[in-house]
Parts: sequence; structure tokens; C-alpha cells
Amino acid sequence: MNQSSSQQHVADLHGRTLGDLRVSVTDKCNLRCNYCMPEEEYTWLPKQSLLTFDEISKLVDVFSDLGVSKIRLTGGEPLMRRDLHVLVSDLAGKQSIHDLAMTTNGVLLNQHLPALYAAGLRRVTVSLDTMQPERFRALTRRDDHKHVIESLRSVAGAGFVGTKIDTVVIRGFNDDEVADILEFGKTVAAEVRFIEYMDVGGATQWSKNKVMSRADMLSALRARYGQVDAMASADGGTAPAARFMLPDGTTFGIISSTTEPFCSTCNRARLTADGTLYLCLYAEKGLDLRTPLRDGASHQELVEIVRNSWSHRGDRGAEVRLKQHDRQSFIPIQQLKNDTRLEMHTRGG
Ligand code: GTP
Ligand code: 5AD
Ligand code: SF4
Repeated sequence: MNQSSSQQHVADLHGRTLGDLRVSVTDKCNLRCNYCMPEEEYTWLPKQSLLTFDEISKLVDVFSDLGVSKIRLTGGEPLMRRDLHVLVSDLAGKQSIHDLAMTTNGVLLNQHLPALYAAGLRRVTVSLDTMQPERFRALTRRDDHKHVIESLRSVAGAGFVGTKIDTVVIRGFNDDEVADILEFGKTVAAEVRFIEYMDVGGATQWSKNKVMSRADMLSALRARYGQVDAMASADGGTAPAARFMLPDGTTFGIISSTTEPFCSTCNRARLTADGTLYLCLYAEKGLDLRTPLRDGASHQELVEIVRNSWSHRGDRGAEVRLKQHDRQSFIPIQQLKNDTRLEMHTRGG
């Protein structure tokens, strides 16, 4: 049962209260972004290990009993999962979930907008790193730039609100496009968030000199727009983006996980498509929830498993990485091949 009246909040070792669950519905992706999936070959999660929609729904009820009211569907690319609108409809109908959103690369979004809207989804975040088709092809090894742009041009008309654009800024690749992307965001009523390139698992091409820091992004934007004002943080300070405003009232965000981490307020848990729980983007070990679920554990038993796990959480992955001397990509390729759950695309960006 998932009435909010039965919610019991749970804090971790640093006093951070579980509030947000990111649910990856597939590890598959139809792009090969260089910052996330630069390799030629990947090992996929075995099909029989993927949670069914019913199993996801049951686990969401477990998390919502522990205080989760915010769910984000991620992938891989979530629209690679067949009939996703069926899951959306189930989750949108849960009273305990106050915010349901999806992060997508936008390639297939346009064609799915009506079904997703009808199922109850109202908020999407679309990844867009460049306004230039050629650069898009170089970054993603696919030719879908126009599909992403078309999707973004259609979201507002399809009834979606609070749309965001996620842009990973890479020095020497798209750092000259921050203003162009902001200007495009205005035309589609989407708030742009610039993301520092992170050395997460899977980012095997990461190096320190490719990171454009929040400070450098702000300098570039001040050079172009004059004044850029900091705004109060959204979501009571648990949202990863610091928000800013341009003189014309346009707002945007910067997610500075690499140079100015926000672990101290992180309230997120992540569930992989095979039902493994991770308490940090950088965690090397997860907790298998699929096995107890399939072995018939009761709702309350699963609540206790998750409560126990969160209450022992001490992760501050991005802060630990920041202290690293000679910082290089986080997980060596061989280790990624041995455990695909270490990959950002499996963990759900
Ligand atoms: P809303 O606030 O609901 O819009 O969601 P969000 O800001 O979490 O959105 P999104 O899923 O688009 O996340 C944006 C990016 O922020 C991710 O792709 C990551 O690069 C980064 N990010 C998200 N969650 C975390 C996190 O828990 N830790 C760190 N360090 N980075 C994160
Ligand atoms: N650095 C920062 N963000 C990343 N993402 C994936 N890999 C990285 C990385 N190395 C995030 C981006 C992308 C989403 C799918 O995952 O926000 O848009
Ligand atoms: Fe949260 Fe880990 Fe990201 Fe820090 S690095 S914000 S603890 S997920």
C-alpha cells in the first residue's frame, strides 16, 4: 500500500533524507555519446533480469513508503523500453508520487508525446549538447540531430510543462555554444541546464582539461549577456542545479558535480533496470532488490531492506573524487566490462 499517510522518512549517516528515486527502465541506448558510451561494444543486462512494469511498480511503492515522492524515469534511453506509457500510467496514478519526470535523448520522443501525455506524464528533460548537426554526429555517432530538435519543438504544444534541456559542456567541443543553446531553449520554453563533464563510470574519455567549470561557464555567459544573477535554489536545496537569471528574465541552471559537488544535500537513490539499488552515482556496489522481490519478500520486508540500506549510507562520491590527485576516468574499461552496472548508462544519468 502506498498512501502518503504511511510514509516514514529515513535519514542516512549524514542526515540526508531519502526523497528522490531515479528508475532506469532499460540499459539500451540509441545514441553513443562520447561522454557516456564511447566504446564500440557493450555487454547488456540479461533480458530475464529486467524488472517487469509490475515489479517496478511494487518497488516504487516500497520507496514511497520511505518518503520518496519524486520519480524520474531514465535509461539508457527510456523510450527504448517497449510500451513505456503503460508504466507511466501506473506511476502517474500513484497518490504518493508528486513529481514524475523522464530524462530522454529526444530521438524517439516526438512520436511518443501523445501517448506519454495521455498516460499522465507532464515533464521531460531532453539532452541536447549542440545546435550543429555535424557536431551531433561526431558526438553521438548517429545522425538524429533533427529528430531531437523536432521533439523539443513539439513538447510545449503537446502539453508538457517544466521542460528542461541538459547540456554537457565539454571544453574544446561545445563550449562555444552555451549562448546558442540558451537562445534555442527560449524558443521552445525549456530551461537549459549546463552540466560539467563528470568522470562517472563509462566516461572513459574523460580528462580534467575537458571540464568546463561552472566558474568558466558563468564568465563566458557574463561576457555575452552582461549581468547574470544567482537565484535561490529550487526544491529546498536538493536539486543538483544552481539557477541563474539573465537580464531579460531567462533562467538557466548549472550542475557543477565535478568542481563544486552537492553531495551534502543529495537525497537520491537509483534503481537499475535489473532491480539493483545504488545510493550514489559513484557507488561501486549496489544492493540486489530483484532477488528478494522474486523470492516473494513482502512489501514490509522490502521496506526494511531499503530502510536499512539508506540508513547506513555514507556516500559522497563526487566530493571524494574532487579530493583525488591526478584525477583520471573513474573506472577502468575492464572493470566496466565485468560489471555493466558501473556504467552511467546502466545507472541512469
Ligand atoms: P529535476 O530536478 O527533477 O529536474 O531533475 P534532475 O535535475 O535530477 O535532472 P536530470 O535527471 O536531468 O539530471 C541532470 C544531470 O545531473 C544528470 O544527467 C547528471 O549528470 C547530474 N546528476 C543527476 N543526479 C545526480 C546525482 O545524484 N549526483 C551527481 N553528482 N550528479 C547528478
Ligand atoms: N558527465 C556529465 N553528465 C553525463 N551524463 C551522462 N554522462 C555524463 C558525463 N560523463 C548525463 C547527461 C546526459 C544524461 C543522459 O546523462 O546529462 O544528458
Ligand atoms: Fe549524490 Fe553521490 Fe552524486 Fe554526491 S556523487 S551528489 S552523493 S549521487
